[in-house]
Amino acid sequence: MEEDSQSQTPSAEALIQRLEALASEADEAAVAAADPEALEGIRIRFLGRKEGLLSSILRELGRLAPQERPAVGAAANRSKERVQATLDRRANEFATGKLVSEVVDATLPGRARWTGAVHPVARVVEELWQIFRTLGFTRARGPEAENEWYNFVALNTPLDHPAADEQDTIYLDKPNLLRSHTSPVQIRTLQSHQPPIRILAPGMVYRRDTADSTHTPAFWQLEGLVVDEGVTFVDFKATLAEFARRFWGPGTQVRFRPSFFPFTEPSAEVDVKRMVVHADGRREESPWIEIMGAGMVDPAVLDNVGYDSERYTGWAFGMGPARIAALKYGISDIRRFFENDVRLLEQLAQ
Ligand code: PHE
Repeated sequence: MEEDSQSQTPSAEALIQRLEALASEADEAAVAAADPEALEGIRIRFLGRKEGLLSSILRELGRLAPQERPAVGAAANRSKERVQATLDRRANEFATGKLVSEVVDATLPGRARWTGAVHPVARVVEELWQIFRTLGFTRARGPEAENEWYNFVALNTPLDHPAADEQDTIYLDKPNLLRSHTSPVQIRTLQSHQPPIRILAPGMVYRRDTADSTHTPAFWQLEGLVVDEGVTFVDFKATLAEFARRFWGPGTQVRFRPSFFPFTEPSAEVDVKRMVVHADGRREESPWIEIMGAGMVDPAVLDNVGYDSERYTGWAFGMGPARIAALKYGISDIRRFFENDVRLLEQLAQ
């Protein structure tokens, strides 16, 4: 492209550039103007009809080829409007004594701040932990990648037991697997600690399950284990009943239904019946709700880790915090806890 200054006739492009530069210059001058008089001087210098810089550029329009004129005309209008808008804004600022950027519209709704919150299931785990902590429990943990011995054999579960089936268990390279329950933490704790043992072990467990409203292939469990001399079935029932009343309220009833687990004898399924108080003060009993599997530690488990099962006894339980959170927050489909729909998380945030 040839330099405009060297040619007799200006190019349309060069004129458009000059118009834009002119508008920028006028804008800057208007913003810097100290008072309305200075502003008027700027208006005359740039937009004045006869001597104004814009007019002087437009006078060259006639020297352009007719087909080039419309584009330059449009650019001139844009520049003029831009300068006029800046002049108007500054005039308004002088009149009101306020900068536009300082004007606050107090009628606009406030912008809510996004804050993080603890996930509802994690919060329930924390609440459960706080209760068991006051009942003398400490926290324990174990690996999510386990092997058959910790997950089944040491827990008195033969490998031909249906639970060890590849249909139910997610195997890594055999005998390694993703733990299908938190009970292997019982074994690891018994190996690494001396009685008295009172531990709570929350963590993720994995099963080859299809997700539905009450199952997900990965889910939280909370394991409890108590082992000492003289631990009895009474201690087991009393502690769990105390826990249930602290978590669901003093009106809570607790029921122990006979059940079976290879690593507890006797085994029980624990149900609670809550007293629901409605908004109008009406009280109503909930149906019985299963909250955990539990039982007295099978002596064979203690023998497997070298304990004298004549001397030591114990009890254990395993519960699903997502189920407990679903109950607490009225969620009918536990998959919702894993979808991370921020609307649900926000609603349940505290
Ligand atoms: N591990 C059992 C399960 O996953 C629950 C359980 C734990 C039962 C401890 C008894 C004692 O179903």
